[in-house]
Amino acid sequence: MRAAYVLNGPNLGRLGRRQPEVYGHTTHADLAAHLVEYGRGVGLEVEVRQTDYEGRYIEWLHEAADAGVSCVLNAGAWTHYSYAVADAAALVTYVEVHISNVHAREDFRHHSVLSAKAAGIIVGCGLRGYDLALTHLAAGVDSGA
Ligand code: DQA
Repeated sequence: MRAAYVLNGPNLGRLGRRQPEVYGHTTHADLAAHLVEYGRGVGLEVEVRQTDYEGRYIEWLHEAADAGVSCVLNAGAWTHYSYAVADAAALVTYVEVHISNVHAREDFRHHSVLSAKAAGIIVGCGLRGYDLALTHLAAGVDSGA
């Protein structure tokens, strides 16, 4: 089975407890378990990781690049300003996911430094966005036209 990484950035480890009105009640552990199972269903061996440390996130992207593994990225707030994460993300094929509709929120969330090089962007679909992103990776990101 082809591998895929789901890489979640800062504060996403607090899913279920952090602003549940925005991010829902599901915990990160439950999300991870679901995505591993969902991935199997679409033919992907999914590994889900979360970190609050930018350097670690960048190292995971390097690891994905070296292994040729495509990724689903929710880089949390780094999305809006981290050129270091954007440079590392540019080394891999990735779908950008945001649980919330960032365009309906504060101005600083309206811009993403990741979107230009993304193979797809899924915003505001809740946790289902991760399923949609994995489906897109599994289908082959070039096959959507
Ligand atoms: C987020 C949106 C970001 O603006 C925020 O900083 C997050 C989560 C989302 O999934 O909706 O941490 O990426």
